[in-house]
Amino acid sequence: MKILFTSLVLAFIAPLFLFAQKVSTEQQIDSLIVRMTLEEKAGQLSQFSGGWNNVSTNSTVTAEQRTMVKEGKVGSFLNVFGSTITRELQRIAVEESRMGIPLLYGFDVIHGFRTTFPIPLAEASSWDPDVVEQAERTAAIEAAAAGIHWTFAPMVDIARDPRWGRIAEGSGEDPYLGSVMARARVKGFQGENGLTDKTILACVKHYAAYGGAEGGREYNTVDISDRSLRETYLPPFKAALDAGVATFMSSFNEIAGVPSTGNRRLLTDILRHEWGFKGFVVSDWTSIPEMRAHGIVATDEEAGMLAITAGTDMDMMGGVYLRYLPALVREGKVSEQTVDEAVRRVLRVKFQLGLFDNPYRFCNAEDERTLIYNDANRAAARAMARRSIVLLKNGKNVLPLKKDIRSIALIGPLADDRENPLGPWAQVGRPSDVVTVLEGIKAVAAPSCKIINTRGCEIVDSLPTRDFNEAVAAAKGADVVIMVLGESSNMSGEAGSRSNLDLPGDQEELLRAVCAIGKPVVLVLMNGRPLTIPWAADHCDAIVESWFLGVQTGNAIADVLFGDYNPSGKLPVSFPRVVGQVPVYYNYKSTGRPANSSYRFTSKYIDVPSTPLYPFGYGLSYSTFSYKDLALSSKKIATDGIVRVTVNVTNSSNRDGEEVVQMYIQDEVGSVTRPVKELRGFKKIALKAGETKRVEFALEPNDLAMYNREMKWVVEPGSFKVFVGTNSSDNLEDEFEVVQKQ
Ligand code: BGC
Repeated sequence: MKILFTSLVLAFIAPLFLFAQKVSTEQQIDSLIVRMTLEEKAGQLSQFSGGWNNVSTNSTVTAEQRTMVKEGKVGSFLNVFGSTITRELQRIAVEESRMGIPLLYGFDVIHGFRTTFPIPLAEASSWDPDVVEQAERTAAIEAAAAGIHWTFAPMVDIARDPRWGRIAEGSGEDPYLGSVMARARVKGFQGENGLTDKTILACVKHYAAYGGAEGGREYNTVDISDRSLRETYLPPFKAALDAGVATFMSSFNEIAGVPSTGNRRLLTDILRHEWGFKGFVVSDWTSIPEMRAHGIVATDEEAGMLAITAGTDMDMMGGVYLRYLPALVREGKVSEQTVDEAVRRVLRVKFQLGLFDNPYRFCNAEDERTLIYNDANRAAARAMARRSIVLLKNGKNVLPLKKDIRSIALIGPLADDRENPLGPWAQVGRPSDVVTVLEGIKAVAAPSCKIINTRGCEIVDSLPTRDFNEAVAAAKGADVVIMVLGESSNMSGEAGSRSNLDLPGDQEELLRAVCAIGKPVVLVLMNGRPLTIPWAADHCDAIVESWFLGVQTGNAIADVLFGDYNPSGKLPVSFPRVVGQVPVYYNYKSTGRPANSSYRFTSKYIDVPSTPLYPFGYGLSYSTFSYKDLALSSKKIATDGIVRVTVNVTNSSNRDGEEVVQMYIQDEVGSVTRPVKELRGFKKIALKAGETKRVEFALEPNDLAMYNREMKWVVEPGSFKVFVGTNSSDNLEDEFEVVQKQ
């Protein structure tokens, strides 16, 4: 009885305590804000970069920056990490600045920290949100151990133009898959049960529509309809927000004439008023002063005014808030309340991290020594890397290779390369940690296997006296040829736009020369984007898309080549046949004249098929899967109803494997036109040889809804097609009817 009574009392008063605590955080923020000068407020809204060198977990700050911290002129640093330096600067902030407000340390933890994981586009190819979440968890643990509080990730920009180098940093062309990955990444970084000293804050970027840059050219203009903003580009941001993301980053681009950093509709109306976001927005690197070059303001001062009133809370590297905000407030051009609101949002995050209780919470030399690049993290990187690989072709079942194969010619500039497999944005990843393809193969193949390794040519610029003789001779003497070709890591990522998507330099010629020998050729690709490889697709026996896989590259590739891992990745983006076909994506609109190869006056090019070389969702396995018995729970539902979609998937081979079962819909007639297909569900399932599983999906109102002509989110009555299959173009199909709810 007594226990019951005590529990009842506790149950009653516990929420009051929680409430009191919540109020007290806001009150503490209030009491800080009333005591802060305008200069100190501007300081909290200013972020500056330290310098760092890539070879050690070390970064530097200048004497001037230390003084700035003391004077309360810095709220946050980026690129400052390592327990020693973060502790030292934090001490200055807390003990020597007048307000004693702790610093926030941000960093681009994009695909792992020191243990470099596959690039995000590769991770998305796993179609496995749980493993991606684990990858980000590992990254967070390592980064937190190095004193970092906050990552500028996930990047969730939908990208349908592979010329854009930053396609490597996102999850590809589809808003549904992009949203699933966005959620997984936020949960991975921030943890599911609240922030600890082993999690870091996430920052979803680049808000918004950065991937819509005209011509795929970096930093370029975006001019899209409100509909494509809502339907295509915003969903992953909303998904990140629903997963609790702490911060947003504004993008460099303009949309319809307004740069994002000064776009009140995006940053305040949609983000705060419509979506209820409570965290803060950081600008991209100098994107506040860059509004001058955009031609929307004449001076930095005006840029600062535009940015703060639009809803950009923190100025990354612009120095504009620090220089101009106090005067703008004094002159009455910006209200002090606007500045206070931004300061409040930044301080709230510092409270959430527990930095006011213990500013050194993340500065732990012991964690830094034991939690970074340890065996467990390397194992996690290998598991992620294997799952990121996509098998594009496997003619005559040339793969997997037998471990007792007698000889292998391993050819290509990336076959024994240690720098490029890290990919763009590897930051503190070290080339010396990378297992090369050669090393990976040596570790798996029988000791008796003769491996002849030769570069054949360079990635981009070959010697003037280019000579394929050595490569050709190696191929002649081997049972199988493995060619490792592709891009250098700096050809993608930021400022890595390309106008040509072919294999760079002389690599395709090398491939042709080697293929001419007539030996079985396995092409392993390393690249940060879809490449145009129609010749290779026709002439190589097998093609393995490995993207950039990080430190475990060689091991993961060898696992796949020799069958220790049965590939299960699927493309998160379509592969065009030629660059002129771009943008080519699966969820396009039908047009009034859908492509028809036998009738000229239809929407197509006359010199290339209308289909991509490899469609979205495509990827092979060493197993084969068959789909049967697609069934719907109902052929007619009301607008608030649910349809259950089931299908039997059989592993019709004698090898255990995994398959990503994909479900798409088409709203056949709408008040506005709808895409020919839209992904609405997928499940990655393991099937033993010969096993059949019944896979079930639910299509709920939200899956069928769309923005109608008035931009209202509704389910419209009418017929819907359902497609289920192994990729976006190879599906079983059925249909059902939606009727207006009575
Ligand atoms: C990039 C951001 C990045 C920031 C900080 C910018 O140039 O666009 O994605 O987070 O730099 O490094």
